[in-house]
Amino acid sequence: MGEAMRHHWLLLGACGWVLLILMFVSKFISFRAIDDYGERFSGQSSGTVPGTKVAKPNLVSSPDKPVPQPSDPVTVQPSAVPTDADWQAVSERRIELLSTVCKNSSLRNLTHVSISKFVLDRIFVCDKHKILFCQTPKVGNTQWKKVLIVLNGAFSTVEEIPENLVHDHEKNGLPRLSSLTPQEITHRLNTYFKFFIVRDPFERLISAFKDKFVKNPRFEPWYKHDIAPAIIRKYRKSHRDNDLAASGLHFEDFVRYLGDVEGRRRVDRQFGEHIIHWVTYADLCAPCEIHYSVVGHHETLEKDAPYILKAAGIDQLVSYPAIPPGITRYNRTKVEHYFSGISKRDIRRLYARYQGDFHLFGYPSPDFLMN
Ligand SMILES: *[C@@H]1O[C@H](CO)[C@@H](O)[C@H](O)[C@H]1NC(C)=O
Ligand SMILES: *[C@@H]1O[C@H](CO)[C@@H](O)[C@H](O)[C@H]1NC(C)=O
Ligand SMILES: *[C@@H]1O[C@H](CO)[C@@H](O)[C@H](O)[C@H]1NC(C)=O
Repeated sequence: MGEAMRHHWLLLGACGWVLLILMFVSKFISFRAIDDYGERFSGQSSGTVPGTKVAKPNLVSSPDKPVPQPSDPVTVQPSAVPTDADWQAVSERRIELLSTVCKNSSLRNLTHVSISKFVLDRIFVCDKHKILFCQTPKVGNTQWKKVLIVLNGAFSTVEEIPENLVHDHEKNGLPRLSSLTPQEITHRLNTYFKFFIVRDPFERLISAFKDKFVKNPRFEPWYKHDIAPAIIRKYRKSHRDNDLAASGLHFEDFVRYLGDVEGRRRVDRQFGEHIIHWVTYADLCAPCEIHYSVVGHHETLEKDAPYILKAAGIDQLVSYPAIPPGITRYNRTKVEHYFSGISKRDIRRLYARYQGDFHLFGYPSPDFLMN
């Protein structure tokens, strides 16, 4: 049993009486944390915290006091435990910032995208509770999808949803917005509660790189066999063909590909939907065209998840699973480590491509990497 686990159990014990009472009265859906956050726990087989029966999120507060994140300028006083009203103010300031940045004409290219089929494919519909959720990978999205699947009624608890059905939108009762008629789409965009989750844009890219090209899950062979060689061929400075399979994609290749605004268009078309793991949040969710109600931040998910449930009016029906402590925190050391071998020129080009996301969501530009 790892340190983190022991720590967690101690905290659970301290809150034991609360949990006991809640287990008796609990008619809430409870479920387990699954590792679709950016990072897994090291030393834990699955990232699952066993037996995490989650009660109402606003009663069982996160074991950690919310710490202001370096990447999240919109935070509350460090000493104060934020109240719901404080968090509402944080959330509203984020939406104001988003709307201000959307009006900035010098960022227009990077912030405005049309509401295409690609965008409509990213958005999931919960008609029963009038919610739209735009999926942005690596920020705990599977959790949100499970919550919405249960709310839509195809399954009565999250545990009952077979893993292979979570992403099978033909069968899981969580349709994509793109499956509806134009009138139905417009109606929902105008009237439903809409949200998505973001995280620091560079940390997100590191997470995508690790997950898709380093860990390379056996059930997603195309990243290693198709996408990586295509990127290497185009962007590695020196290579011989017979190196391709052996050496794998380097973070440097990935950064050069992502920063190549013009050249990557053709490559991206070949890659199809897989690019959702690294295209900008603006490209995924069209936040300047669609007026989202809330944009959650991965770094403050402990506050954002319960806030979103409340704002969407579903906090009495479902809860967000326990978030393993520390897992969502911005790690500057890691970012520095990944970019340490990359030329300033490539980093600046990458930033130029992703600065829309930095500005839209209030993440400070990573000057420590570029100067
Ligand atoms: C628009 O964005 C640019 C680039 O980040 C910035 O330099 C400029 O100050 C912004 N303009 C306004 C009006 O905020
Ligand atoms: C927007 O993109 C086009 C084509 O990529 C480019 O020519 C133009 O200079 C860009 N405009 C701004 C304001 O960055
Ligand atoms: C941050 O990342 C570094 C390098 O990957 C790692 O050694 C360290 O444990 C991480 N720190 C935290 C607080 O997770």
